[in-house]
Amino acid sequence: MALSTLFLGKRFRNPIVLASGIVGYGKKFDEEVGLDKVGGIITKTVTALPRPGNPLPRVAEVDSGMLNSIGLANPGIDKFISDQLPYLQEHKTNIIVSIAGGTSEELVHLALLLDNIEYIDALELNLSCPNVAIKMQTSQDPRETFRAVDAVKAVTRKQLIAKLSPNVSDVVEVARKAVEAGADALSLINTLGGIKVDPVLRKFVLGNVTGGLSGPAIRPVGVKMVYDIKKELDIPVIAHGGIVDQWSALEYLLVGADLIALGSGLFKNPDLTEEVSAGLEKYLHENGATLADIRGELL
Ligand SMILES: Cc1cc2nc3c(=O)[nH]c(=O)nc-3n(C[C@H](O)[C@H](O)[C@H](O)COP(=O)(O)O)c2cc1C
Repeated sequence: MALSTLFLGKRFRNPIVLASGIVGYGKKFDEEVGLDKVGGIITKTVTALPRPGNPLPRVAEVDSGMLNSIGLANPGIDKFISDQLPYLQEHKTNIIVSIAGGTSEELVHLALLLDNIEYIDALELNLSCPNVAIKMQTSQDPRETFRAVDAVKAVTRKQLIAKLSPNVSDVVEVARKAVEAGADALSLINTLGGIKVDPVLRKFVLGNVTGGLSGPAIRPVGVKMVYDIKKELDIPVIAHGGIVDQWSALEYLLVGADLIALGSGLFKNPDLTEEVSAGLEKYLHENGATLADIRGELL
């Protein structure tokens, strides 16, 4: 109860959501942990056509984190809607569907197909996947970001969340463009581009050569970007990046995060959801504080 919070006008039982790409479309997580333990799920990113993903290997451990180059492997929007999405309908958690497209037209097409599905609470535009063969992640360019958000906003009744890349020199500028184009909230950070080399084999470790770095290694980057955006813009933020316990969740909440997303930390610790929610409740109780008291305290 102490953790219940409002986000984009919806009640979330706690500020914890499952980051895109971590639990697929939620079925296994639901069976093992329970979707009712989290405030919401952000689905694995869906594209218009099925994508097989990148060559193997697609993941590698690195110091304080991991690299992945999944390459947006997904069954495509039609199979997602017919085979995956109905399972989520039966669950009392908020549903955020993540979509990506090579062009604004593709994003519009996806948004239109999802618009009439009432139980979807919001759309997340993945403008920041580092692992697909496009010239540039949309959210590395403020104008492209504006264009994509603007195009989708024009056709959807859903709340729109723009997921931003940390692979930029000025994330606030990109965030501002997303907000100007009508984004209702922001999600950040996606992974940071990285490479791992095997010096013994003298080869790249990932089949795709480059991948996205996630985990505790990127948390200070994520905390700074959330902080910078929250200082400048009045926009709800879902904070991602290296959350592995209640303390790392608190870092983000103290700099103003509205929700916190569990990502690759869940791979190492399947009990992370319960640990973070119990840890946050304990912290609030011990400090005689509410979630609202601590949220943004350091801004
Ligand atoms: C294996 C894996 C797959 C991911 N797939 C997606 C995806 O499909 N869409 C997306 O927006 N982000 C994806 N992400 C990024 C995460 O949602 C998150 O932004 C990032 O991992 C940072 O959080 P973390 O440090 O807690 O993992 C993926 C991350 C990992 C590790």
